[in-house]
Amino acid sequence: MSFIREGELTFIERFFANILKAGPMPKHVAFIMDGNRRYAQKCHVERQEGHSQGFEKLAETLRWCLNLGIREVTVYAFSIENFKRSKEEVDGLMDLARQKFSRLLEEQENWKKHGVCIRVLGDLHLLPVDIQELIARAVQATRSYNKCFLNVCFAYTSRHEICNAVREMAWGVEQGLLEPSDVSESLLEKCLYTSNSPDPDLLIRTSGEVRLSDFLLWQTSHSCLVFQSVLWPEYSFWNLCEAILRYQMNSSALQKARASYMDERKRQQMAKDQAYVRKKLQQEGTASHEDPVHQQNLLQQYTAMREERIQAFLQALEQKRVDFLDRLCTASA
Ligand code: FPP
Ligand code: MG
Repeated sequence: MSFIREGELTFIERFFANILKAGPMPKHVAFIMDGNRRYAQKCHVERQEGHSQGFEKLAETLRWCLNLGIREVTVYAFSIENFKRSKEEVDGLMDLARQKFSRLLEEQENWKKHGVCIRVLGDLHLLPVDIQELIARAVQATRSYNKCFLNVCFAYTSRHEICNAVREMAWGVEQGLLEPSDVSESLLEKCLYTSNSPDPDLLIRTSGEVRLSDFLLWQTSHSCLVFQSVLWPEYSFWNLCEAILRYQMNSSALQKARASYMDERKRQQMAKDQAYVRKKLQQEGTASHEDPVHQQNLLQQYTAMREERIQAFLQALEQKRVDFLDRLCTASA
């Protein structure tokens, strides 16, 4: 079974979906797919079977999301912490990934038809080389599609991602592309693996655990967090509807909090730029430092130069990432 599953909703599901769609719908939903092993234990099947059924549930959930008009989904498929599990289990999960990404490459027509862009977010270096190559080929093959987005967090933790973003900014300064004063929340965000996605509106964790386990810590500060007790392989369309309803009940407060955070961030950046210009003018020590028109011009010049520097840095960063994937694709050709 592949990631994409064809099929419409049943009559009753469609009926309920239409009622839900009358309210504000999340555009981006993230899932912590937890409870595969407890499910295996409960059903007296092998642990690996629990993970396989977990994958089947992912494919089914993506179909529901597509039918509900949710165009972006992010899933926690393998945490860096998961490497600490037994070798047998880690190997089993790697085999599953191998199998599913190979299948994805065989079914490229399907991805094209649905316009699904797949991104894999995480530290690929931590994975076996053949899986790195498969992932690189899958990502490159679907990179131009833009109807829907599936972000698979694999060899991922949020702290690792944030630490990597800090390292990228340090690289930018070292290369002379950035000034240390360019470092800001907004720039750090653009260095995260998730830089091409809006923040999730809704994050769902199954299996009754009520923690984030180092998943999208930066990105979910204004998301609706829903914890459900169902084990992931047993997740149903109705569980998804319930989570969306909970989002709808909180969406206006979440939008307000997000908008107020963005305003505050803009205000802080403006204050930082103004302080920089004031200091510059004082250093110049000319009479013009009292002139508000001169101050305004300098502020505009400074802001434009900073924007230009940041754009050049982000382009260099993107190129570095594309080159890494290209090298992997060439190695496997
Ligand atoms: C958590 O359940 C689940 C995982 C660690 C793996 C999730 C992976 C999949 C659903 C398959 C996705 C695969 C690809 C290739 C995208 P758990 O193992 O922590 O179970 P437990 O909480 O019951 O112990
Ligand atoms: Mg678990």
